[in-house]
Amino acid sequence: MRILAVETSCDDTAVALLEGCSAIAERVYSQTVHGEHGGVVPELASRSHMKVLPAMVDDVLAAGGMTDAGGIDVFAATAGPGLVGSLLVGLSWTKAAAWALGKPFLGINHLAAHLFVHYGASRTVQFPAVALLVSGGHTCLFRMGSWDEITLIGSTRDDAAGESFDKTAKLTGLGYPGGALLDSAADRGDPDAVSLPSPMSDPAVPDFSFSGLKTAAKLAWERGADLNDLAASFRRTVVDLLVSKLFYQCEVLGARSVLAAGGVTANRLLRRVLEEESIKHGVRLFIPDSEHAMDNALMVGRAAAAVLDSDPSATSPLSCNAFARWSGSSLTPLCCH
Ligand code: KG4
Ligand code: ZN
Repeated sequence: MRILAVETSCDDTAVALLEGCSAIAERVYSQTVHGEHGGVVPELASRSHMKVLPAMVDDVLAAGGMTDAGGIDVFAATAGPGLVGSLLVGLSWTKAAAWALGKPFLGINHLAAHLFVHYGASRTVQFPAVALLVSGGHTCLFRMGSWDEITLIGSTRDDAAGESFDKTAKLTGLGYPGGALLDSAADRGDPDAVSLPSPMSDPAVPDFSFSGLKTAAKLAWERGADLNDLAASFRRTVVDLLVSKLFYQCEVLGARSVLAAGGVTANRLLRRVLEEESIKHGVRLFIPDSEHAMDNALMVGRAAAAVLDSDPSATSPLSCNAFARWSGSSLTPLCCH
């Protein structure tokens, strides 16, 4: 089963060719045009996707030894949540290709796709599991009874964790996107040097709040805190909040596996602490390599593979539209079914 997967939900254009769950070829183009604006400019993001997507598809097909898309069995694209203009580029291209070639099309939920990067992993996920999704747009905890039963436990009440990293990096002049830059600065600092609050720190409360922390970091910066020390204190505070709530749920729900996904899982301290805590709690940890922590199309392809494993005749209608937000309590990879 050859799957062509496309992801254009924000500022990364990504294409992957899969055989079942295995990547044959994949490409990601991270747009650099937004740096000078200090954040993603939606119109520029959409235009950039339009410019690079067709050539990236050709490149991925060629890398997979295919001269055209005729040998693709299923086409999958992210339908949302994300920037609607960006989503429409990948979604419209993919629906058109599926229609032209008379092949099935699957519209995929971006949040589910982040978790499904672990589907078909060499080690099997054991259920029940708890999943932490931490990206630039989302911070959520999910309970997973199986791959078909994913329930929201809690989410952020304001900024996402990645967004708080980006905003703090921006205000300290590190630049945009700042998560990785703040992470590097933190490696050089003392996490005890700057005192920051831990909003909603009760581990039993599964929701998060990061905007007050970001404001406290701003005040500390204006009072003359050292950049590296502030970065280290900020990083540790965010990581402590994420990890304490995740493992509280892990205990309460008797989870056997912990899944982490999303761009913030590239964070070095978060990775280290997740590994330590998983050993301590005796659970299997699934964390993407840094390349697949960020937006990519392999995760979209694996989500599509999972949908087809459950129901080989599954499709989304070509009327499946892009959507900006996901609200609900039950997360499924297939949209518009
Ligand atoms: O999953 P992703 O690529 O896109 C969204 O779906 O949002 O995540 C991007 C987010 C950005 O906020 C970025 O700053 C953050 O992931 N990020 C990091 C690190 N690398 C990327 N945050 C903290 N530490 C990092 N090393
Ligand atoms: Zn994402």
